[in-house]
Amino acid sequence: MNARAGEGHGHGKVILLGEHSVVYGRPAIAAGMTLGCRAYAEFATADVLSVEPWGVSVDAATVEADPERELLRRAFAVLREHYESPRRALHVRATMQVPGGAGLGGSAALSVAIVRALDACLGIERTNEQLVELSMAWERVFHGNPSGIDSAMAVRGGLLQYVRGQPHLPIRPGKALSFVVANSGEHGSTKSMVESVARQHARDPAKAEQIFDAIASLVTNAKSAVEDGDHRRLGQLMDLNHTLLNTLMLSTSKLEEMCGIARRAGALGAKLTGGGGGGCMLALAADAERTTAIAQALSAAGYAAFAVEVVA
Ligand code: MEV
Repeated sequence: MNARAGEGHGHGKVILLGEHSVVYGRPAIAAGMTLGCRAYAEFATADVLSVEPWGVSVDAATVEADPERELLRRAFAVLREHYESPRRALHVRATMQVPGGAGLGGSAALSVAIVRALDACLGIERTNEQLVELSMAWERVFHGNPSGIDSAMAVRGGLLQYVRGQPHLPIRPGKALSFVVANSGEHGSTKSMVESVARQHARDPAKAEQIFDAIASLVTNAKSAVEDGDHRRLGQLMDLNHTLLNTLMLSTSKLEEMCGIARRAGALGAKLTGGGGGGCMLALAADAERTTAIAQALSAAGYAAFAVEVVA
């Protein structure tokens, strides 16, 4: 890389408990992954974003006919508008290490990697809070009402309790946590799922609020289970969280099948993670050795699976 180039990284994430209710001010627990997105920026003749392995390139100034590419272009243009005027054109090349539409925070990781690469190239210093704000501006293009959890995780990684608009609370696990993540292969649109929950909330606010409160109490219990190293209890709480997400119609038959396979292979608990409607399942294993049997059972059924370790 030459001296006028910059590099950046954003973390992917898994939500242990609390997705969707976190949009409505309830707490959620999430863990950052090493995998996420990496980006390189260098001076060029036009403001271009290229993303691999998607094989997509968009120019911030050129409207795209394809709706998905146009969303990506608009999000990139929103980020670029936050830079100096007149802008020096930069080409950002990003590589996704997690799939998009899988509930693993790929979109927020991409935005954070881009901003970090641009900042490194232009010699701009930014606080984590400012970085989260910029990432949320990008996320708003893709889904109107992000809680900010994906952006916070993409910037910081680690294990956190997140409440919208409040300082994050780092959680220290009593013992290492061993998870298996499996991908249904179905694209889960966070935007449609967040909108679907919003419609249910508008139709029957009391019922939706009751479900969000129930999830909030699972999250509070889960935080102490993580701190106490009580993984059997944590697994039960994850199962209960999945049941409540299912009542919000966020699960699919593939997610149900994956949860069943993981539990039969010895998982202490399993649930959808992220937006749902497709995307990924998260299963808790008793320890790192036991992730292998769970991942193998899921792979044998045709689902891509990998282990995620959260160290104590
Ligand atoms: C997506 O990873 C998590 C959701 O709760 C949406 C959000 O918090 O913005 C579904």
